[in-house]
Amino acid sequence: MVTGGNSGVGKETALGLASLGGNVVIVCRNKNKGEAAWAEVKAKSRNENVDLMLADLSSFKSVRALAGSFKAKYGKLDVLVNNAGEILSKRHVTVDGLERTFASNHLGHFLLTNLLLDTIKASTPARIINITSEAHRGARIHFDDLQGEKSYSSFRAYGQAKLANVLFTYELARKLEGTGVGVNCLHPGVVRTGFGHDDSGLMSVVIWIASPFFKSAEKAARAVIKLATLPELESANGKYFSGLKEARSSEESYDRETARRLWEVSEELTLS
Ligand SMILES: NC(=O)c1ccc[n+]([C@@H]2O[C@H](COP(=O)([O-])OP(=O)(O)OC[C@H]3O[C@@H](n4cnc5c(N)ncnc54)[C@H](OP(=O)(O)O)[C@@H]3O)[C@@H](O)[C@H]2O)c1
Repeated sequence: MVTGGNSGVGKETALGLASLGGNVVIVCRNKNKGEAAWAEVKAKSRNENVDLMLADLSSFKSVRALAGSFKAKYGKLDVLVNNAGEILSKRHVTVDGLERTFASNHLGHFLLTNLLLDTIKASTPARIINITSEAHRGARIHFDDLQGEKSYSSFRAYGQAKLANVLFTYELARKLEGTGVGVNCLHPGVVRTGFGHDDSGLMSVVIWIASPFFKSAEKAARAVIKLATLPELESANGKYFSGLKEARSSEESYDRETARRLWEVSEELTLS
């Protein structure tokens, strides 16, 4: 399963996995974009076993419906790629009353992963890949203002959400030790995709000017596909990858108390 599979790194990852013969489920929030990507991935991979499931990761009801539909149809999940992500110049509130960057990038994937965990554990050896970003560096989890009510900027909200991806990876890895499920996170590089284009602020201008120098989504996805499939990476657990190179993430991301607290807060927000 690849979330955000209609565009950029997610679409190329879905295509790569389908081309290897995998049974791939693409998760998208927009029906038209989803159907276009679904048709393209099927045609280019020459693989009919490509499925489309619609879900908005920023809505817990939608994520629950997605997990329910998946479980009703499939008994197995070998690889979950939590890829969907967005950055927003203005603060948006989700249907659950939460800040949307945090919900789309972190909380939705936290909930989805937990709801699918029994199926993933029943499919060992299995892998979970959380797509994060170097933008997590310098960020911290603002437990006193998690929803950006007191202070909001796209960089602050995005950095916090991508740091949450790394902290979630490490905490989940500790919980999954010895189960045959490996969870790792990956920074795909600076990639020429649709990312940030919906942002009407400075970010979209910076991206537009610099984008000719970015790497292609196809190249970025190669690392995700390898992390999902290479036999020598089967036992990798709790690692941060920059492309395919294992790297150290920020000091903050290794703070166990922060990871534990984030897990607890995420659980309260999504599972209660
Ligand atoms: N591009 C970069 O330079 C870069 C660098 C570091 C990390 N990343 C990370 O890489 C991942 C993929 O980004 P990309 O560069 O491939 O950008 P992209 O082309 O914009 O793809 C992002 C995907 O996520 C989907 N998405 C966003 N919010 C969603 C939600 N609430 N529910 C369901 N789907 C949602 C988007 O759907 P729509 O098409 O409907 O918007 C799109 O399919 C993200 O996690 C991003 O943070 C990207």
